[in-house]
Amino acid sequence: MTDQNLAVIILAAGEGTRMRSAKPKILHTLAGVPLVGHVLATARELHPSHVIAVVRHERAAVASVISGVLPEAVIVDQDDVPGTGRAVEIALGVLPNEFSGDVVVVSGDVPLLDANTLARLIESHRAAHTAATVLSAVLEDANGYGRIIRGADGLVDRIVEQRDANESELAVTEINSGSYVFSVGLLREELPKVGTGNALGEKYLTDVVALLRASGNAVEAMPVSQSWIVGGVNDRVQLAEASARLNSLIVRGWQLAGVTVVDPATTWIDLNVTLGEDVEILPGTQLKGATTIARGATIGPDTTLVDCEIGEDAVVKRTDATLAVIGKGASVGPFAYLRPNTVLGENGKIGTFVETKNSTIGFGSKVPHLSYIGDTEIGVQSNIGAGTITANFDGIEKHRTTVGSHVRSGSHNVFAAPVRIGDGAYTGAGTVVRKDVPAGALAINVAPQRNMMGWVEEKRPGTAAAEAAAAADESGD
Ligand code: UD1
Ligand code: CA
Repeated sequence: MTDQNLAVIILAAGEGTRMRSAKPKILHTLAGVPLVGHVLATARELHPSHVIAVVRHERAAVASVISGVLPEAVIVDQDDVPGTGRAVEIALGVLPNEFSGDVVVVSGDVPLLDANTLARLIESHRAAHTAATVLSAVLEDANGYGRIIRGADGLVDRIVEQRDANESELAVTEINSGSYVFSVGLLREELPKVGTGNALGEKYLTDVVALLRASGNAVEAMPVSQSWIVGGVNDRVQLAEASARLNSLIVRGWQLAGVTVVDPATTWIDLNVTLGEDVEILPGTQLKGATTIARGATIGPDTTLVDCEIGEDAVVKRTDATLAVIGKGASVGPFAYLRPNTVLGENGKIGTFVETKNSTIGFGSKVPHLSYIGDTEIGVQSNIGAGTITANFDGIEKHRTTVGSHVRSGSHNVFAAPVRIGDGAYTGAGTVVRKDVPAGALAINVAPQRNMMGWVEEKRPGTAAAEAAAAADESGD
């Protein structure tokens, strides 16, 4: 399976200054995966015998993400000499001397480049026996990219960077995608000769093309069919463009797999999300992280799910949820906020204006309205009255509430944790449950109501309320 004649070098040492970000550019995410993660996944699909990633800027953070995604990648450090040419030179230093095959060079900031395109590039390179093959693209707006300068023979003479190009070179619309295949021997010979005499004072990998030509070798360029494939992410405008492109591919993939997506433009689905057949996604929905949604569930509108697991035929409406598990046929929202470790059983309900956290709500149990349920265990088929709050925090520590099965709690209760309500128990409206309620008991602790007759006319004479009361007295109401 492994191609013993293939090595992939991933350039990931640049500063990414155009992002204007405290976070390294290649750790910005696209569909929930860091830019460099997309590139590593593509590299892996080529089954190379070596993957080498060159790092420098924000080394620790970048290296740990790379090792997390692709543990077999060898990470090397670029030194003080700047430029893509120097980065490749450093990478070649850790490639075994016996390696005599082809080296694919890709950038950590070109996330949508797929393995099929690179496989075709490698194939074309091997068929043509050239020293290098550049993946190119013809763009309407070539601004910012290096230009491919072809000779009369149609081969590539050199690549000139935007900053170093003259007017006629700037008019060229075929650009360097920043991905290449090199025959390793020739690259090893020519790369050390690359200088830094350019606008940025960097050692450009692109300069190796002219050197290869000068020593009598052929360099080809293979244009991609669609230019977005090689779009680089240098700033946040390009990040959003790449995001939208990838998202439309992901949405389309799920549509073809049997998912109804009512409005692709406002539906965002991360790469690692999985959806069952006949899932229906309504407008304004974001499915993030490792969220999985089983067949027949309806999600949205205006719902964000992060790392959630949604059961078959569940309905989740206008909800924000993270790390929640929703059972088969259960119903959530509208306007629910589910924080981590919320588990709702089959046919259960978390209703309108309800917040939950670190709580398990059993089969068929319902928390329908205006409640906060935290650090709580609720059995099966219980109903929690509207406006019930679990007082789980005593100011220092969190405590648990346990509610049994078939419980009916009244509206506007406070469960002052730690507290237990037994199976089949009831509580009255407005109860502050401070003591355990035994199974089958009715708990009430609201003081009896006293009506002080005539209080308003006596204490608030002359007010509209007093007049209304007097009128009611006369009419005998
Ligand atoms: C580069 C190409 C340009 C091409 C464009 C395509 C060069 C000189 N220019 O320009 O012809 O059109 O990509 O996207 O190669 N990097 C390092 N070490 C460094 C500098 C950069 O590892 O010292 C890495 C960066 O992290 C990045 C990649 O190399 O992943 C490309 O660098 P970047 O600065 O983005 O190059 P561009 O200006 O986009
Ligand atoms: Ca770039």
